[in-house]
Amino acid sequence: MVVIVKQPKLLPGVPGDLLSRLTNKSLFISDAFVDGEWVKGEKPSTGKAFSKVANLNISDFEKAIKSAKVAQNKYYRSTTGPQRGVLLRKWFDLIIENKKDLATILCHENGKTFAESEGEIIYAASFISWFSEEASRSYGDTIPSSTPNTTILTLKQPVGVCGIITPWNFPAAMITRKIGPALAAGCAVVIKPPSATPHTCLALTKLAIEAGLPGKCIQVCTTKNREAASELARHPDIAKISFTGSTGVGKMLAALAAKTLKRVSLELGGNAPFIVFDDADLDLAVEGAMVCKFRCSGQTCVCANRLLVQKGVVKDFTARLVKKVNELKMGCGSDPTTTQGPLVNQKAVDKVQEHVRDAIAKGAILETGGFRPKSPGFFFAPTVLSGAIANMKIATEETFGPVAAIFEFETEGEAIEMANNTEFGLAGYFFSKDIGRVLRVAKELESGMVGVNTGKISASESPFGGVKESGYGREGSKYGLAEYEILKTVTIGNTNV
Ligand code: SIN
Repeated sequence: MVVIVKQPKLLPGVPGDLLSRLTNKSLFISDAFVDGEWVKGEKPSTGKAFSKVANLNISDFEKAIKSAKVAQNKYYRSTTGPQRGVLLRKWFDLIIENKKDLATILCHENGKTFAESEGEIIYAASFISWFSEEASRSYGDTIPSSTPNTTILTLKQPVGVCGIITPWNFPAAMITRKIGPALAAGCAVVIKPPSATPHTCLALTKLAIEAGLPGKCIQVCTTKNREAASELARHPDIAKISFTGSTGVGKMLAALAAKTLKRVSLELGGNAPFIVFDDADLDLAVEGAMVCKFRCSGQTCVCANRLLVQKGVVKDFTARLVKKVNELKMGCGSDPTTTQGPLVNQKAVDKVQEHVRDAIAKGAILETGGFRPKSPGFFFAPTVLSGAIANMKIATEETFGPVAAIFEFETEGEAIEMANNTEFGLAGYFFSKDIGRVLRVAKELESGMVGVNTGKISASESPFGGVKESGYGREGSKYGLAEYEILKTVTIGNTNV
Protein backbone atom coordinates (compact mmCIF):
# COMPACT_ATOMS: atom_id res chain seq x y z
CA MET A 1 0.00 0.00 0.00
CA VAL A 2 1.20 3.46 -0.79
CA VAL A 3 0.83 5.98 1.99
CA ILE A 4 2.60 9.08 3.04
CA VAL A 5 5.69 8.46 5.16
CA LYS A 6 4.79 9.69 8.61
CA GLN A 7 8.33 10.32 9.81
CA PRO A 8 10.00 11.96 6.89
CA LYS A 9 13.50 10.69 6.45
CA LEU A 10 15.81 13.56 5.63
CA LEU A 11 18.60 12.38 3.43
CA PRO A 12 22.20 13.45 3.33
CA GLY A 13 22.44 16.31 0.88
CA VAL A 14 19.32 18.13 2.03
CA PRO A 15 20.69 21.60 2.54
CA GLY A 16 20.49 23.24 5.90
CA ASP A 17 19.50 26.48 4.24
CA LEU A 18 16.13 25.14 3.07
CA LEU A 19 15.36 23.32 6.31
CA SER A 20 16.45 26.20 8.47
CA ARG A 21 13.99 28.46 6.65
CA LEU A 22 10.99 26.21 7.38
CA THR A 23 8.90 26.75 10.49
CA ASN A 24 7.24 23.37 10.05
CA LYS A 25 10.25 21.22 9.07
CA SER A 26 8.13 18.09 8.72
CA LEU A 27 6.76 19.55 5.48
CA PHE A 28 10.00 18.77 3.69
CA ILE A 29 9.46 15.17 2.63
CA SER A 30 11.91 13.34 0.44
CA ASP A 31 10.33 9.92 0.72
CA ALA A 32 7.55 8.78 -1.50
CA PHE A 33 5.36 6.00 -0.28
CA VAL A 34 6.75 2.53 -0.89
CA ASP A 35 10.11 0.95 -1.23
CA GLY A 36 11.79 2.15 -4.39
CA GLU A 37 14.93 3.43 -5.92
CA TRP A 38 16.10 6.92 -5.12
CA VAL A 39 16.39 9.57 -7.80
CA LYS A 40 17.98 12.96 -7.70
CA GLY A 41 16.14 16.25 -7.90
CA GLU A 42 18.01 19.27 -9.21
CA LYS A 43 17.93 22.71 -7.70
CA PRO A 44 17.34 24.95 -10.73
CA SER A 45 19.32 27.97 -9.55
CA THR A 46 22.55 25.99 -9.08
CA GLY A 47 21.97 22.94 -11.25
CA LYS A 48 22.99 20.79 -8.27
CA ALA A 49 21.04 17.93 -6.74
CA PHE A 50 19.51 18.81 -3.41
CA SER A 51 17.40 15.81 -2.48
CA LYS A 52 16.52 12.26 -3.36
CA VAL A 53 13.01 11.00 -3.81
CA ALA A 54 11.69 7.47 -4.22
CA ASN A 55 11.46 6.21 -7.80
CA LEU A 56 8.43 3.92 -7.90
CA ASN A 57 7.89 1.09 -10.36
CA ILE A 58 4.83 -0.38 -12.08
CA SER A 59 3.96 -2.73 -9.22
CA ASP A 60 3.96 0.24 -6.80
CA PHE A 61 1.52 2.02 -9.11
CA GLU A 62 -0.66 -1.09 -9.23
CA LYS A 63 -0.72 -1.24 -5.42
CA ALA A 64 -1.61 2.42 -5.20
CA ILE A 65 -4.44 2.08 -7.73
CA LYS A 66 -5.93 -1.00 -6.03
CA SER A 67 -5.73 0.65 -2.64
CA ALA A 68 -7.33 3.84 -3.99
CA LYS A 69 -10.18 1.87 -5.52
CA VAL A 70 -11.13 0.31 -2.18
CA ALA A 71 -10.72 3.64 -0.40
CA GLN A 72 -12.82 5.49 -2.97
CA ASN A 73 -15.88 3.30 -2.44
CA LYS A 74 -15.66 3.78 1.31
CA TYR A 75 -15.04 7.53 1.08
CA TYR A 76 -17.93 8.20 -1.29
CA ARG A 77 -20.40 6.03 0.62
CA SER A 78 -19.47 7.38 4.05
CA THR A 79 -19.49 11.12 3.26
CA THR A 80 -22.00 13.61 1.93
CA GLY A 81 -21.04 16.41 -0.43
CA PRO A 82 -21.18 19.02 2.36
CA GLN A 83 -18.99 16.80 4.59
CA ARG A 84 -16.42 16.53 1.82
CA GLY A 85 -16.65 20.31 1.52
CA VAL A 86 -15.80 20.70 5.22
CA LEU A 87 -12.73 18.45 4.86
CA LEU A 88 -11.55 20.45 1.87
CA ARG A 89 -12.09 23.70 3.78
CA LYS A 90 -9.89 22.38 6.62
CA TRP A 91 -7.23 21.53 4.07
CA PHE A 92 -7.49 25.03 2.60
CA ASP A 93 -7.03 26.53 6.09
CA LEU A 94 -3.90 24.43 6.68
CA ILE A 95 -2.43 25.41 3.32
CA ILE A 96 -2.92 29.09 4.14
CA GLU A 97 -1.52 28.59 7.66
CA ASN A 98 1.62 27.00 6.16
CA LYS A 99 1.83 29.15 3.05
CA LYS A 100 5.29 30.57 3.80
CA ASP A 101 6.83 27.12 4.27
CA LEU A 102 5.06 25.74 1.22
CA ALA A 103 6.25 28.73 -0.81
CA THR A 104 9.80 28.21 0.48
CA ILE A 105 9.76 24.57 -0.65
CA LEU A 106 8.20 25.49 -4.00
CA CYS A 107 10.68 28.32 -4.59
CA HIS A 108 13.57 26.02 -3.74
CA GLU A 109 12.61 23.16 -6.02
CA ASN A 110 11.11 25.12 -8.93
CA GLY A 111 13.25 28.24 -8.90
CA LYS A 112 10.48 30.80 -9.40
CA THR A 113 10.72 33.87 -7.18
CA PHE A 114 9.49 33.70 -3.61
CA ALA A 115 6.76 36.24 -4.42
CA GLU A 116 5.59 34.10 -7.33
CA SER A 117 5.85 30.96 -5.17
CA GLU A 118 3.70 32.46 -2.45
CA GLY A 119 1.29 33.70 -5.12
CA GLU A 120 1.11 30.17 -6.49
CA ILE A 121 0.35 28.68 -3.06
CA ILE A 122 -2.53 31.14 -2.63
CA TYR A 123 -3.72 30.38 -6.19
CA ALA A 124 -3.46 26.63 -5.42
CA ALA A 125 -5.41 27.05 -2.19
CA SER A 126 -8.14 28.96 -4.02
CA PHE A 127 -9.05 25.78 -5.94
CA ILE A 128 -9.49 23.89 -2.68
CA SER A 129 -11.65 26.68 -1.29
CA TRP A 130 -13.68 26.90 -4.51
CA PHE A 131 -14.37 23.17 -4.67
CA SER A 132 -15.04 22.94 -0.93
CA GLU A 133 -18.06 25.10 -1.77
CA GLU A 134 -18.95 23.35 -5.03
CA ALA A 135 -19.05 20.00 -3.18
CA SER A 136 -22.46 20.96 -1.76
CA ARG A 137 -23.81 22.09 -5.11
CA SER A 138 -23.62 18.88 -7.04
CA TYR A 139 -27.21 18.01 -7.75
CA GLY A 140 -29.17 16.61 -10.65
CA ASP A 141 -32.52 17.32 -12.30
CA THR A 142 -36.09 16.14 -12.16
CA ILE A 143 -37.23 15.84 -15.77
CA PRO A 144 -40.89 15.84 -16.81
CA SER A 145 -41.40 12.57 -18.67
CA SER A 146 -43.33 12.12 -21.93
CA THR A 147 -44.53 8.74 -20.57
CA PRO A 148 -47.47 8.86 -18.11
CA ASN A 149 -46.79 7.90 -14.47
CA THR A 150 -43.07 8.24 -14.96
CA THR A 151 -40.44 10.39 -13.30
CA ILE A 152 -36.95 10.89 -14.63
CA LEU A 153 -34.13 11.89 -12.25
CA THR A 154 -30.49 12.54 -12.85
CA LEU A 155 -27.91 11.78 -10.18
CA LYS A 156 -24.33 12.94 -10.09
CA GLN A 157 -21.81 10.38 -8.86
CA PRO A 158 -18.02 10.22 -8.73
CA VAL A 159 -16.41 8.91 -11.88
CA GLY A 160 -14.09 6.63 -9.84
CA VAL A 161 -10.35 6.57 -9.20
CA CYS A 162 -8.57 9.36 -11.08
CA GLY A 163 -5.00 9.32 -12.35
CA ILE A 164 -3.48 12.78 -12.03
CA ILE A 165 -0.31 13.75 -13.87
CA THR A 166 1.01 17.27 -13.39
CA PRO A 167 3.93 19.46 -14.54
CA TRP A 168 6.82 21.15 -12.75
CA ASN A 169 5.94 24.74 -13.71
CA PHE A 170 3.10 24.92 -11.16
CA PRO A 171 4.01 22.28 -8.55
CA ALA A 172 1.08 23.26 -6.30
CA ALA A 173 -1.70 24.78 -8.40
CA MET A 174 -1.89 22.10 -11.07
CA ILE A 175 -2.29 19.47 -8.34
CA THR A 176 -5.02 21.28 -6.41
CA ARG A 177 -6.89 22.31 -9.58
CA LYS A 178 -7.36 18.60 -10.27
CA ILE A 179 -7.65 16.93 -6.89
CA GLY A 180 -9.88 19.64 -5.38
CA PRO A 181 -12.81 18.77 -7.68
CA ALA A 182 -11.97 15.04 -7.64
CA LEU A 183 -12.16 14.84 -3.85
CA ALA A 184 -15.23 17.09 -3.79
CA ALA A 185 -17.00 14.71 -6.17
CA GLY A 186 -16.08 11.68 -4.01
CA CYS A 187 -13.25 10.30 -6.15
CA ALA A 188 -9.89 8.99 -4.94
CA VAL A 189 -6.75 10.10 -6.75
CA VAL A 190 -3.41 8.57 -7.63
CA ILE A 191 -1.01 11.42 -8.37
CA LYS A 192 2.21 11.26 -10.36
CA PRO A 193 3.81 14.56 -9.40
CA PRO A 194 6.50 16.06 -11.60
CA SER A 195 9.86 14.36 -10.96
CA ALA A 196 11.62 17.76 -10.99
CA THR A 197 9.37 19.22 -8.27
CA PRO A 198 7.79 16.51 -6.09
CA HIS A 199 8.28 18.11 -2.66
CA THR A 200 5.47 20.68 -2.87
CA CYS A 201 2.99 17.91 -3.70
CA LEU A 202 4.26 15.74 -0.83
CA ALA A 203 3.93 18.63 1.61
CA LEU A 204 0.40 19.42 0.38
CA THR A 205 -0.51 15.76 0.78
CA LYS A 206 0.70 15.74 4.36
CA LEU A 207 -1.54 18.71 5.12
CA ALA A 208 -4.49 17.01 3.39
CA ILE A 209 -4.10 14.01 5.69
CA GLU A 210 -3.84 16.33 8.70
CA ALA A 211 -7.08 17.96 7.55
CA GLY A 212 -8.80 14.57 7.82
CA LEU A 213 -9.02 13.58 4.17
CA PRO A 214 -8.70 9.78 4.01
CA GLY A 215 -5.04 8.89 3.41
CA LYS A 216 -5.70 6.16 0.91
CA CYS A 217 -7.83 8.50 -1.20
CA ILE A 218 -4.72 10.54 -2.03
CA GLN A 219 -1.84 8.41 -3.22
CA VAL A 220 1.33 10.04 -4.45
CA CYS A 221 3.60 7.97 -6.67
CA THR A 222 6.88 9.75 -7.34
CA THR A 223 8.77 8.29 -10.26
CA LYS A 224 11.02 9.03 -13.17
CA ASN A 225 9.88 5.82 -14.83
CA ARG A 226 7.60 6.75 -17.76
CA GLU A 227 6.34 3.19 -18.12
CA ALA A 228 5.26 3.16 -14.48
CA ALA A 229 3.49 6.52 -14.84
CA SER A 230 1.76 5.29 -18.00
CA GLU A 231 0.12 2.64 -15.84
CA LEU A 232 -2.30 5.37 -14.79
CA ALA A 233 -3.55 5.57 -18.39
CA ARG A 234 -3.57 1.80 -18.86
CA HIS A 235 -4.94 0.33 -15.66
CA PRO A 236 -8.62 -0.74 -15.86
CA ASP A 237 -9.31 0.49 -12.31
CA ILE A 238 -8.46 4.07 -13.26
CA ALA A 239 -11.67 5.69 -14.51
CA LYS A 240 -10.29 9.04 -15.51
CA ILE A 241 -7.00 10.65 -16.41
CA SER A 242 -6.32 14.34 -15.96
CA PHE A 243 -3.05 15.55 -17.42
CA THR A 244 -1.34 18.92 -17.75
CA GLY A 245 1.78 18.96 -19.86
CA SER A 246 3.03 18.70 -23.41
CA THR A 247 0.80 17.94 -26.38
CA GLY A 248 2.98 14.97 -27.33
CA VAL A 249 2.62 13.24 -23.96
CA GLY A 250 -1.09 14.19 -23.84
CA LYS A 251 -1.73 12.42 -27.14
CA MET A 252 0.18 9.35 -25.96
CA LEU A 253 -1.85 9.19 -22.72
CA ALA A 254 -5.14 9.70 -24.59
CA ALA A 255 -4.26 6.82 -26.93
CA LEU A 256 -3.46 4.53 -23.98
CA ALA A 257 -6.59 5.61 -22.11
CA ALA A 258 -8.72 4.88 -25.19
CA LYS A 259 -8.08 1.15 -24.75
CA THR A 260 -10.29 1.12 -21.64
CA LEU A 261 -12.37 4.16 -22.73
CA LYS A 262 -11.35 6.26 -19.74
CA ARG A 263 -12.55 9.79 -19.36
CA VAL A 264 -9.67 12.14 -20.19
CA SER A 265 -9.00 15.83 -19.52
CA LEU A 266 -5.97 17.34 -21.19
CA GLU A 267 -4.45 20.77 -20.63
CA LEU A 268 -1.64 20.86 -23.15
CA GLY A 269 0.76 23.17 -24.92
CA GLY A 270 -0.04 26.63 -26.18
CA ASN A 271 1.32 29.22 -28.60
CA ALA A 272 -0.61 32.21 -27.33
CA PRO A 273 -0.97 35.26 -29.56
CA PHE A 274 -0.86 38.63 -27.80
CA ILE A 275 -2.29 41.31 -30.11
CA VAL A 276 -1.78 45.04 -29.62
CA PHE A 277 -4.03 47.14 -31.88
CA ASP A 278 -3.32 50.77 -32.81
CA ASP A 279 -6.14 51.92 -30.52
CA ALA A 280 -4.81 50.09 -27.42
CA ASP A 281 -3.79 51.75 -24.19
CA LEU A 282 -0.06 51.08 -24.59
CA ASP A 283 0.74 51.31 -20.88
CA LEU A 284 -1.82 48.59 -20.21
CA ALA A 285 -0.56 46.53 -23.13
CA VAL A 286 3.04 46.65 -21.88
CA GLU A 287 1.93 45.79 -18.34
CA GLY A 288 -0.11 42.87 -19.74
CA ALA A 289 2.83 41.67 -21.82
CA MET A 290 5.13 41.73 -18.79
CA VAL A 291 2.65 39.69 -16.74
CA CYS A 292 1.79 37.12 -19.31
CA LYS A 293 5.17 36.79 -21.03
CA PHE A 294 7.56 36.85 -18.05
CA ARG A 295 5.45 35.17 -15.33
CA CYS A 296 7.38 32.10 -14.16
CA SER A 297 10.22 33.19 -16.51
CA GLY A 298 8.00 32.50 -19.50
CA GLN A 299 7.28 28.94 -18.44
CA THR A 300 3.48 28.79 -18.41
CA CYS A 301 1.16 27.24 -20.97
CA VAL A 302 -0.74 30.52 -21.19
CA CYS A 303 2.33 32.73 -21.68
CA ALA A 304 2.22 35.01 -24.71
CA ASN A 305 4.41 33.33 -27.31
CA ARG A 306 3.87 35.73 -30.25
CA LEU A 307 3.39 39.47 -29.71
CA LEU A 308 1.48 40.74 -32.76
CA VAL A 309 1.66 44.53 -32.84
CA GLN A 310 -0.07 46.86 -35.32
CA LYS A 311 2.23 48.91 -37.55
CA GLY A 312 1.25 52.33 -36.13
CA VAL A 313 2.36 51.48 -32.57
CA VAL A 314 5.03 48.84 -33.08
CA LYS A 315 8.02 51.17 -32.50
CA ASP A 316 6.51 52.81 -29.44
CA PHE A 317 5.36 49.49 -27.94
CA THR A 318 8.76 47.85 -28.55
CA ALA A 319 10.64 50.73 -26.91
CA ARG A 320 8.37 50.70 -23.85
CA LEU A 321 8.58 46.91 -23.53
CA VAL A 322 12.39 46.90 -23.80
CA LYS A 323 12.58 49.51 -21.04
CA LYS A 324 10.49 47.35 -18.70
CA VAL A 325 12.33 44.14 -19.61
CA ASN A 326 15.66 45.83 -18.83
CA GLU A 327 14.39 46.43 -15.29
CA LEU A 328 14.00 42.67 -14.64
CA LYS A 329 16.60 41.07 -12.41
CA MET A 330 17.63 37.45 -12.82
CA GLY A 331 18.67 35.50 -9.75
CA CYS A 332 17.95 32.81 -7.21
CA GLY A 333 14.23 32.77 -6.40
CA SER A 334 14.82 33.11 -2.67
CA ASP A 335 16.65 36.45 -3.13
CA PRO A 336 13.91 39.06 -2.56
CA THR A 337 15.37 41.36 -5.22
CA THR A 338 15.02 38.70 -7.94
CA THR A 339 12.20 39.19 -10.44
CA GLN A 340 13.20 36.42 -12.89
CA GLY A 341 14.10 32.96 -11.67
CA PRO A 342 15.93 30.30 -13.65
CA LEU A 343 14.45 27.91 -16.19
CA VAL A 344 13.76 24.35 -15.17
CA ASN A 345 16.80 22.62 -16.67
CA GLN A 346 19.54 22.80 -19.26
CA LYS A 347 17.27 21.42 -22.00
CA ALA A 348 14.91 24.35 -21.47
CA VAL A 349 17.78 26.85 -21.72
CA ASP A 350 19.03 25.18 -24.92
CA LYS A 351 15.58 25.39 -26.50
CA VAL A 352 15.24 29.10 -25.71
CA GLN A 353 18.71 29.77 -27.06
CA GLU A 354 17.92 27.87 -30.25
CA HIS A 355 14.70 29.87 -30.79
CA VAL A 356 16.62 33.13 -30.39
CA ARG A 357 19.45 31.96 -32.66
CA ASP A 358 17.02 30.76 -35.33
CA ALA A 359 15.02 34.03 -35.23
CA ILE A 360 18.13 36.21 -35.56
CA ALA A 361 19.47 34.03 -38.39
CA LYS A 362 16.17 34.58 -40.23
CA GLY A 363 16.23 38.36 -39.82
CA ALA A 364 14.83 39.23 -36.36
CA ILE A 365 16.44 42.13 -34.49
CA LEU A 366 17.73 41.50 -30.98
CA GLU A 367 16.39 44.45 -28.95
CA THR A 368 17.66 43.25 -25.57
CA GLY A 369 18.83 40.07 -23.81
CA GLY A 370 19.57 37.02 -25.92
CA PHE A 371 22.35 35.59 -23.75
CA ARG A 372 23.04 33.11 -20.97
CA PRO A 373 24.73 34.64 -17.94
CA LYS A 374 28.03 33.11 -16.86
CA SER A 375 26.80 32.32 -13.33
CA PRO A 376 25.78 28.71 -12.53
CA GLY A 377 22.16 27.67 -12.90
CA PHE A 378 19.71 27.42 -15.76
CA PHE A 379 19.32 31.11 -16.55
CA PHE A 380 18.51 32.90 -19.78
CA ALA A 381 18.33 36.68 -19.97
CA PRO A 382 14.86 38.19 -20.56
CA THR A 383 14.86 38.91 -24.27
CA VAL A 384 12.94 41.04 -26.79
CA LEU A 385 13.14 40.36 -30.52
CA SER A 386 11.48 42.56 -33.15
CA GLY A 387 10.83 41.85 -36.82
CA ALA A 388 9.76 38.25 -36.16
CA ILE A 389 8.13 36.43 -39.09
CA ALA A 390 6.12 33.27 -39.69
CA ASN A 391 8.93 30.92 -40.75
CA MET A 392 10.81 31.22 -37.46
CA LYS A 393 10.69 28.45 -34.83
CA ILE A 394 9.44 31.00 -32.34
CA ALA A 395 6.32 31.47 -34.51
CA THR A 396 5.32 27.84 -34.58
CA GLU A 397 6.75 26.21 -31.43
CA GLU A 398 6.07 26.99 -27.78
CA THR A 399 9.29 28.65 -26.54
CA PHE A 400 8.53 28.20 -22.81
CA GLY A 401 11.07 30.81 -21.83
CA PRO A 402 11.61 34.55 -21.34
CA VAL A 403 11.61 35.66 -24.99
CA ALA A 404 9.12 38.22 -26.33
CA ALA A 405 9.04 38.02 -30.12
CA ILE A 406 7.32 40.96 -31.84
CA PHE A 407 5.56 40.39 -35.17
CA GLU A 408 4.15 43.39 -37.10
CA PHE A 409 0.72 43.43 -38.79
CA GLU A 410 -1.40 46.00 -40.65
CA THR A 411 -5.09 45.04 -40.48
CA GLU A 412 -7.40 43.38 -37.97
CA GLY A 413 -8.09 40.54 -40.41
CA GLU A 414 -4.37 39.93 -40.81
CA ALA A 415 -3.89 39.85 -37.01
CA ILE A 416 -6.65 37.26 -36.58
CA GLU A 417 -5.26 35.12 -39.36
CA MET A 418 -1.76 35.25 -37.86
CA ALA A 419 -3.11 34.58 -34.35
CA ASN A 420 -5.04 31.50 -35.47
CA ASN A 421 -2.23 30.14 -37.63
CA THR A 422 -1.20 27.49 -35.10
CA GLU A 423 -2.34 24.00 -34.17
CA PHE A 424 -2.62 25.19 -30.55
CA GLY A 425 -5.57 27.01 -28.96
CA LEU A 426 -5.14 27.52 -25.22
CA ALA A 427 -5.04 31.27 -24.56
CA GLY A 428 -5.10 34.43 -26.66
CA TYR A 429 -4.85 38.08 -25.61
CA PHE A 430 -5.55 41.40 -27.24
CA PHE A 431 -5.59 45.08 -26.35
CA SER A 432 -8.07 47.53 -27.85
CA LYS A 433 -10.40 50.29 -26.65
CA ASP A 434 -12.92 49.71 -29.44
CA ILE A 435 -15.88 47.77 -28.03
CA GLY A 436 -16.95 46.51 -31.45
CA ARG A 437 -13.47 45.15 -32.06
CA VAL A 438 -13.37 43.64 -28.56
CA LEU A 439 -16.46 41.56 -29.27
CA ARG A 440 -15.42 40.68 -32.84
CA VAL A 441 -11.89 39.58 -32.05
CA ALA A 442 -12.89 37.69 -28.88
CA LYS A 443 -15.25 35.62 -31.03
CA GLU A 444 -12.72 35.07 -33.82
CA LEU A 445 -9.73 33.89 -31.78
CA GLU A 446 -9.45 30.10 -31.85
CA SER A 447 -8.56 29.56 -28.20
CA GLY A 448 -10.27 28.28 -25.08
CA MET A 449 -9.51 31.50 -23.16
CA VAL A 450 -9.21 35.12 -24.26
CA GLY A 451 -7.76 37.97 -22.20
CA VAL A 452 -8.94 41.43 -23.31
CA ASN A 453 -6.91 44.39 -22.00
CA THR A 454 -5.33 42.12 -19.40
CA GLY A 455 -2.53 39.58 -19.27
CA LYS A 456 -4.01 37.76 -16.30
CA ILE A 457 -6.72 35.21 -17.03
CA SER A 458 -6.21 32.44 -14.46
CA ALA A 459 -8.53 32.18 -11.44
CA SER A 460 -10.29 29.35 -9.62
CA GLU A 461 -13.74 30.71 -10.59
CA SER A 462 -12.88 30.94 -14.27
CA PRO A 463 -13.03 27.93 -16.66
CA PHE A 464 -9.51 26.98 -17.75
CA GLY A 465 -8.85 24.88 -20.84
CA GLY A 466 -8.12 24.83 -24.53
CA VAL A 467 -9.28 23.89 -28.00
CA LYS A 468 -7.46 22.35 -30.98
CA GLU A 469 -4.23 20.59 -29.93
CA SER A 470 -4.19 22.39 -26.59
CA GLY A 471 -6.55 19.73 -25.29
CA TYR A 472 -10.04 19.35 -23.92
CA GLY A 473 -11.91 19.55 -20.64
CA ARG A 474 -12.28 22.53 -18.32
CA GLU A 475 -10.68 23.02 -14.92
CA GLY A 476 -11.76 25.30 -12.09
CA SER A 477 -15.10 27.17 -12.19
CA LYS A 478 -18.59 25.72 -11.93
CA TYR A 479 -17.72 23.39 -14.82
CA GLY A 480 -14.69 21.81 -13.14
CA LEU A 481 -16.62 19.44 -10.87
CA ALA A 482 -18.52 17.78 -13.74
CA GLU A 483 -15.20 16.54 -15.15
CA TYR A 484 -15.01 14.16 -12.16
CA GLU A 485 -18.66 13.06 -12.13
CA ILE A 486 -20.92 10.81 -14.10
CA LEU A 487 -24.48 11.83 -14.83
CA LYS A 488 -26.74 8.88 -14.10
CA THR A 489 -30.32 8.84 -15.40
CA VAL A 490 -32.94 7.13 -13.23
CA THR A 491 -36.32 6.54 -14.85
CA ILE A 492 -39.02 5.58 -12.31
CA GLY A 493 -41.98 4.08 -14.12
CA ASN A 494 -45.52 3.14 -12.98
CA THR A 495 -45.46 5.64 -10.17
CA ASN A 496 -49.16 5.01 -9.51
CA VAL A 497 -48.72 1.31 -8.53
C1 SIN B 1 -0.10 26.25 -16.92
O1 SIN B 1 0.90 26.81 -17.30
O2 SIN B 1 -0.34 25.11 -17.29
C2 SIN B 1 -1.09 26.88 -15.98
C3 SIN B 1 -1.03 28.32 -15.89
C4 SIN B 1 -2.12 28.92 -15.03
O3 SIN B 1 -2.88 28.24 -14.35
O4 SIN B 1 -2.21 30.14 -15.06
